[in-house]
Amino acid sequence: MNPMHSDAHPDAAAAAIGPGPQQTAPHAPQQGLEIEGLAAGYGKALVLDDLNLSIPRGQVVAMVGPNGAGKSTLVKAISGCIRARSGQVRFNGETLTGMAPHEIARRGILHVPETRDIFGGMTVLENLQVAFDNLNTVADAAQAFDEIYELFPILAQRRTDVAGNLSGGQQQMLAIARALLGRPHVLMLDEPSLGLARLVIREIYATLERLRRTGLTVLLIEQNATMALKFADQAVVLVNGRIVLRGTCEELAADATLVQHYLGGTVH
Ligand SMILES: Nc1ncnc2c1ncn2[C@@H]1O[C@H](COP(=O)(O)OP(=O)(O)O)[C@@H](O)[C@H]1O
Ligand SMILES: [Mg+2]
Repeated sequence: MNPMHSDAHPDAAAAAIGPGPQQTAPHAPQQGLEIEGLAAGYGKALVLDDLNLSIPRGQVVAMVGPNGAGKSTLVKAISGCIRARSGQVRFNGETLTGMAPHEIARRGILHVPETRDIFGGMTVLENLQVAFDNLNTVADAAQAFDEIYELFPILAQRRTDVAGNLSGGQQQMLAIARALLGRPHVLMLDEPSLGLARLVIREIYATLERLRRTGLTVLLIEQNATMALKFADQAVVLVNGRIVLRGTCEELAADATLVQHYLGGTVH
């Protein structure tokens, strides 16, 4: 089953057919998200400098790092919310750098911000409708909403409730659901477990696991390294805007003391 990718989406159709000879040709563009020499910041402050990271299609890359390292800045730069000072972000070979945020979102690169950005005064259903209207490429809203409710049954139960009255975990689910309505190829999750109870975190990760099995490409930002390293394929540690460690999750998990050192003891 592939709940979030409809045949209507050109890339999903390509995925169903499988990688053809063009994709495996030596000069075919890299499939997935590529960040090359990226510099970004605020005003005079440069937060990220010469950042290089590649997330191959269908992979989950976790980025962990202490508070203030520049993780959210990276996600904001990829999604076009802040301008890159130099360097490039490419998706399947196409340069995203310089595009407006909505153009990047329409290409299926979607961001669940740390702040969740749901409309607290609107109902769950209204929040989903706004996201659907802004992002969607298919006509069938009913089917898209059914898919969301199947992934997050609690949102179906609470669809007429005001979003501001949901629990933190339910608000995070709603934030993820809103991004999913844009039929993402790349989903960027900025600290999805922040401030949530362990049980809710497990529930959210179980849903993310279902999504990753559909072939979704994921950039997962977490301070909770234990959870991130269990879930991802590869991981990087960001400190002061620089990647100081990178490897498969097995490699980083084997070096837990070093990861812990960089995270300032936040591994738990
Ligand atoms: N809107 C902003 N204006 C100015 N500085 C900012 C802004 N957002 C973040 N910063 C600064 O950029 C640095 C990186 O922040 P951020 O990317 O949010 O880190 P992280 O997500 O890893 O905790 C920090 O020093 C932070 O104070
Ligand atoms: Mg952050």
